[in-house]
Amino acid sequence: MFITFEGIEGCGKTTQVQRLEKLLSDHDIQVLFTLEPGGTGIGTNIRRILLDTENKKIVPLTELLLYEADRAQHIEEMIKPALNEGKWVVCDRFFDATVAYQGSARGQDMKLIRFLNEKVTQGIRPDLTFLLDCPVHTGLKRALMRNLSVHDEGQDRFEKEKEQFHHKVREGYLALARQNKKRFKVIDATRSVDEMALDISDHMMPFIRSHLKNAK
Ligand SMILES: Nc1ncnc2c1ncn2[C@@H]1O[C@H](COP(=O)(O)OP(=O)(O)OP(=O)(O)O)[C@@H](O)[C@H]1O
Ligand SMILES: [Mg+2]
Repeated sequence: MFITFEGIEGCGKTTQVQRLEKLLSDHDIQVLFTLEPGGTGIGTNIRRILLDTENKKIVPLTELLLYEADRAQHIEEMIKPALNEGKWVVCDRFFDATVAYQGSARGQDMKLIRFLNEKVTQGIRPDLTFLLDCPVHTGLKRALMRNLSVHDEGQDRFEKEKEQFHHKVREGYLALARQNKKRFKVIDATRSVDEMALDISDHMMPFIRSHLKNAK
Protein backbone atom coordinates (compact mmCIF):
# COMPACT_ATOMS: atom_id res chain seq x y z
CA MET A 1 0.00 0.00 0.00
CA PHE A 2 1.28 3.44 -0.96
CA ILE A 3 0.14 6.39 1.19
CA THR A 4 1.05 10.05 0.72
CA PHE A 5 0.60 13.17 2.86
CA GLU A 6 0.00 16.54 1.26
CA GLY A 7 -0.88 20.09 2.29
CA ILE A 8 0.47 23.62 2.57
CA GLU A 9 3.56 24.58 4.61
CA GLY A 10 3.14 23.89 8.32
CA CYS A 11 -0.24 22.09 8.10
CA GLY A 12 1.22 19.20 10.11
CA LYS A 13 2.30 16.57 7.55
CA THR A 14 5.54 15.51 9.23
CA THR A 15 3.85 15.40 12.65
CA GLN A 16 1.09 13.10 11.33
CA VAL A 17 3.53 10.91 9.39
CA GLN A 18 5.30 10.30 12.72
CA ARG A 19 1.99 9.41 14.39
CA LEU A 20 1.20 6.98 11.58
CA GLU A 21 4.68 5.48 11.98
CA LYS A 22 3.76 4.61 15.57
CA LEU A 23 0.35 3.17 14.58
CA LEU A 24 1.80 0.95 11.85
CA SER A 25 4.72 -0.26 13.96
CA ASP A 26 2.26 -1.15 16.75
CA HIS A 27 0.67 -3.49 14.19
CA ASP A 28 4.04 -4.87 13.01
CA ILE A 29 3.55 -3.59 9.48
CA GLN A 30 6.77 -3.24 7.46
CA VAL A 31 6.85 0.32 6.14
CA LEU A 32 9.24 2.58 4.29
CA PHE A 33 8.81 6.14 5.56
CA THR A 34 10.20 8.67 3.15
CA LEU A 35 9.81 12.21 1.84
CA GLU A 36 10.07 14.47 -1.20
CA PRO A 37 12.19 16.22 -2.11
CA GLY A 38 15.17 14.40 -0.60
CA GLY A 39 14.24 10.72 -0.18
CA THR A 40 17.60 9.54 -1.58
CA GLY A 41 21.26 10.63 -1.38
CA ILE A 42 21.05 12.36 -4.75
CA GLY A 43 17.65 13.73 -3.72
CA THR A 44 19.15 15.31 -0.61
CA ASN A 45 21.48 17.33 -2.84
CA ILE A 46 18.56 18.33 -5.09
CA ARG A 47 16.50 19.33 -2.01
CA ARG A 48 19.28 21.65 -0.88
CA ILE A 49 19.22 23.48 -4.23
CA LEU A 50 15.41 23.72 -4.19
CA LEU A 51 15.03 25.12 -0.67
CA ASP A 52 18.13 27.36 -0.52
CA THR A 53 17.01 31.00 -0.23
CA GLU A 54 20.26 32.05 -1.99
CA ASN A 55 18.93 30.48 -5.19
CA LYS A 56 16.80 33.43 -6.20
CA LYS A 57 17.71 32.90 -9.85
CA ILE A 58 16.04 29.49 -10.25
CA VAL A 59 13.62 29.78 -13.14
CA PRO A 60 10.26 27.94 -12.88
CA LEU A 61 11.20 25.26 -15.42
CA THR A 62 14.44 24.46 -13.58
CA GLU A 63 12.46 24.16 -10.36
CA LEU A 64 9.95 21.79 -11.98
CA LEU A 65 12.66 19.62 -13.54
CA LEU A 66 14.59 19.39 -10.27
CA TYR A 67 11.47 18.14 -8.47
CA GLU A 68 10.87 15.59 -11.20
CA ALA A 69 14.56 14.54 -11.16
CA ASP A 70 14.31 14.01 -7.40
CA ARG A 71 11.15 11.93 -7.91
CA ALA A 72 12.63 9.82 -10.72
CA GLN A 73 15.52 8.83 -8.46
CA HIS A 74 13.22 8.30 -5.47
CA ILE A 75 10.85 5.98 -7.34
CA GLU A 76 13.61 3.85 -8.85
CA GLU A 77 15.90 3.70 -5.82
CA MET A 78 13.42 3.56 -2.91
CA ILE A 79 9.68 3.40 -3.61
CA LYS A 80 9.49 0.76 -6.35
CA PRO A 81 11.82 -1.72 -4.57
CA ALA A 82 9.92 -1.31 -1.27
CA LEU A 83 6.52 -1.91 -2.90
CA ASN A 84 7.94 -4.90 -4.79
CA GLU A 85 9.08 -6.38 -1.47
CA GLY A 86 5.50 -6.09 -0.20
CA LYS A 87 6.30 -3.21 2.14
CA TRP A 88 3.99 -0.28 2.67
CA VAL A 89 5.32 3.13 1.68
CA VAL A 90 4.39 6.38 3.43
CA CYS A 91 5.67 9.51 1.70
CA ASP A 92 5.69 13.08 3.08
CA ARG A 93 4.69 14.96 -0.12
CA PHE A 94 4.61 13.35 -3.57
CA PHE A 95 3.50 14.17 -7.11
CA ASP A 96 0.35 16.11 -6.12
CA ALA A 97 2.67 18.70 -4.57
CA THR A 98 4.14 19.43 -8.01
CA VAL A 99 0.65 19.95 -9.46
CA ALA A 100 -0.29 22.29 -6.58
CA TYR A 101 3.00 24.26 -6.24
CA GLN A 102 4.51 24.34 -9.72
CA GLY A 103 1.15 24.07 -11.52
CA SER A 104 -1.62 25.87 -9.61
CA ALA A 105 0.63 28.35 -7.78
CA ARG A 106 3.49 28.98 -10.23
CA GLY A 107 1.26 28.63 -13.28
CA GLN A 108 3.41 26.17 -15.17
CA ASP A 109 2.00 24.02 -17.95
CA MET A 110 -0.26 21.41 -16.29
CA LYS A 111 -0.01 19.09 -19.29
CA LEU A 112 3.77 19.06 -19.00
CA ILE A 113 3.58 18.46 -15.24
CA ARG A 114 1.18 15.55 -15.66
CA PHE A 115 3.34 14.10 -18.44
CA LEU A 116 6.51 14.34 -16.32
CA ASN A 117 4.74 12.95 -13.24
CA GLU A 118 3.51 9.96 -15.23
CA LYS A 119 6.94 9.41 -16.78
CA VAL A 120 9.08 9.60 -13.63
CA THR A 121 6.71 7.57 -11.44
CA GLN A 122 6.56 4.80 -14.07
CA GLY A 123 2.80 4.79 -13.45
CA ILE A 124 3.14 4.12 -9.70
CA ARG A 125 0.36 6.05 -7.95
CA PRO A 126 -0.57 6.41 -4.29
CA ASP A 127 -3.48 4.25 -3.14
CA LEU A 128 -4.43 6.84 -0.55
CA THR A 129 -3.58 10.51 -0.10
CA PHE A 130 -4.25 12.45 3.09
CA LEU A 131 -4.69 16.15 2.35
CA LEU A 132 -4.23 18.08 5.60
CA ASP A 133 -6.21 21.23 4.96
CA CYS A 134 -6.09 24.45 6.95
CA PRO A 135 -6.11 28.19 6.24
CA VAL A 136 -2.80 29.59 4.98
CA HIS A 137 -2.22 31.77 8.05
CA THR A 138 -2.63 28.75 10.37
CA GLY A 139 -0.02 26.72 8.48
CA LEU A 140 2.45 29.58 8.09
CA LYS A 141 2.17 30.48 11.77
CA ARG A 142 2.91 26.89 12.76
CA ALA A 143 5.88 26.70 10.39
CA LEU A 144 7.24 29.98 11.74
CA MET A 145 6.91 28.81 15.36
CA ARG A 146 8.64 25.55 14.49
CA ASN A 147 11.51 27.37 12.75
CA LEU A 148 11.99 29.64 15.77
CA SER A 149 11.97 26.71 18.20
CA VAL A 150 14.41 24.46 16.33
CA HIS A 151 16.92 27.25 15.56
CA ASP A 152 17.41 26.07 12.00
CA GLU A 153 18.24 28.38 9.10
CA GLY A 154 14.79 29.95 9.28
CA GLN A 155 12.35 30.08 6.40
CA ASP A 156 13.09 28.17 3.21
CA ARG A 157 12.55 29.43 -0.35
CA PHE A 158 8.88 28.36 -0.36
CA GLU A 159 8.00 29.58 3.12
CA LYS A 160 9.25 33.00 1.97
CA GLU A 161 6.70 33.12 -0.86
CA LYS A 162 3.88 35.66 -0.57
CA GLU A 163 0.60 34.69 1.07
CA GLN A 164 -1.17 34.70 -2.31
CA PHE A 165 1.15 31.91 -3.49
CA HIS A 166 0.12 29.69 -0.57
CA HIS A 167 -3.58 30.41 -1.21
CA LYS A 168 -3.11 29.12 -4.75
CA VAL A 169 -1.32 26.02 -3.43
CA ARG A 170 -4.21 25.32 -1.05
CA GLU A 171 -6.80 25.80 -3.79
CA GLY A 172 -4.75 23.58 -6.12
CA TYR A 173 -4.74 20.79 -3.55
CA LEU A 174 -8.48 21.11 -2.91
CA ALA A 175 -9.14 20.93 -6.65
CA LEU A 176 -7.05 17.74 -6.84
CA ALA A 177 -9.06 16.27 -3.97
CA ARG A 178 -12.31 17.04 -5.82
CA GLN A 179 -10.95 15.44 -9.01
CA ASN A 180 -9.67 12.31 -7.21
CA LYS A 181 -12.36 11.66 -4.61
CA LYS A 182 -11.58 7.97 -4.22
CA ARG A 183 -7.86 8.47 -3.57
CA PHE A 184 -8.02 11.63 -1.40
CA LYS A 185 -9.09 11.90 2.21
CA VAL A 186 -9.24 15.55 3.31
CA ILE A 187 -8.34 16.01 6.98
CA ASP A 188 -9.38 19.17 8.82
CA ALA A 189 -5.98 20.43 9.96
CA THR A 190 -7.30 23.29 12.11
CA ARG A 191 -7.76 20.75 14.91
CA SER A 192 -5.28 19.45 17.47
CA VAL A 193 -2.53 16.95 16.62
CA ASP A 194 -4.42 14.24 18.57
CA GLU A 195 -7.76 14.88 16.86
CA MET A 196 -6.12 14.74 13.44
CA ALA A 197 -4.21 11.57 14.32
CA LEU A 198 -7.44 9.91 15.48
CA ASP A 199 -9.19 10.80 12.23
CA ILE A 200 -6.28 9.38 10.21
CA SER A 201 -6.12 6.27 12.36
CA ASP A 202 -9.90 5.69 11.93
CA HIS A 203 -9.39 5.87 8.20
CA MET A 204 -6.37 3.52 8.29
CA MET A 205 -7.82 0.78 10.50
CA PRO A 206 -9.82 -1.05 7.79
CA PHE A 207 -6.68 -1.20 5.60
CA ILE A 208 -4.60 -2.42 8.56
CA ARG A 209 -7.16 -5.09 9.50
CA SER A 210 -7.45 -6.35 5.95
CA HIS A 211 -3.65 -6.46 5.60
CA LEU A 212 -3.24 -8.43 8.83
CA LYS A 213 -6.01 -10.85 7.80
CA ASN A 214 -4.34 -11.52 4.43
CA ALA A 215 -0.93 -11.92 6.05
CA LYS A 216 -2.16 -14.77 8.29
N1 LIG B 1 -2.61 20.17 14.70
C1 LIG B 1 -1.65 20.97 15.12
N2 LIG B 1 -1.92 21.99 15.97
C2 LIG B 1 -0.94 22.81 16.41
N3 LIG B 1 0.36 22.72 16.05
C3 LIG B 1 0.69 21.73 15.21
C4 LIG B 1 -0.28 20.82 14.70
N4 LIG B 1 0.35 19.93 13.88
C5 LIG B 1 1.64 20.29 13.87
N5 LIG B 1 1.87 21.34 14.66
C6 LIG B 1 3.13 22.05 14.89
O1 LIG B 1 3.29 22.92 13.79
C7 LIG B 1 4.62 22.89 13.29
C8 LIG B 1 4.59 22.42 11.83
O2 LIG B 1 4.21 21.05 11.80
P1 LIG B 1 4.90 20.03 10.76
O3 LIG B 1 6.36 20.26 10.73
O4 LIG B 1 4.38 18.68 11.07
O5 LIG B 1 4.22 20.57 9.41
P2 LIG B 1 4.58 20.20 7.90
O6 LIG B 1 3.27 20.18 7.18
O7 LIG B 1 5.41 18.98 7.86
O8 LIG B 1 5.42 21.47 7.46
P3 LIG B 1 6.37 21.64 6.14
O9 LIG B 1 5.43 21.85 5.00
O10 LIG B 1 7.16 22.87 6.43
O11 LIG B 1 7.20 20.38 6.04
C9 LIG B 1 5.41 21.98 14.22
O12 LIG B 1 6.05 22.77 15.16
C10 LIG B 1 4.34 21.11 14.85
O13 LIG B 1 4.71 20.69 16.14
MG1 LIG C 1 7.31 18.64 7.02
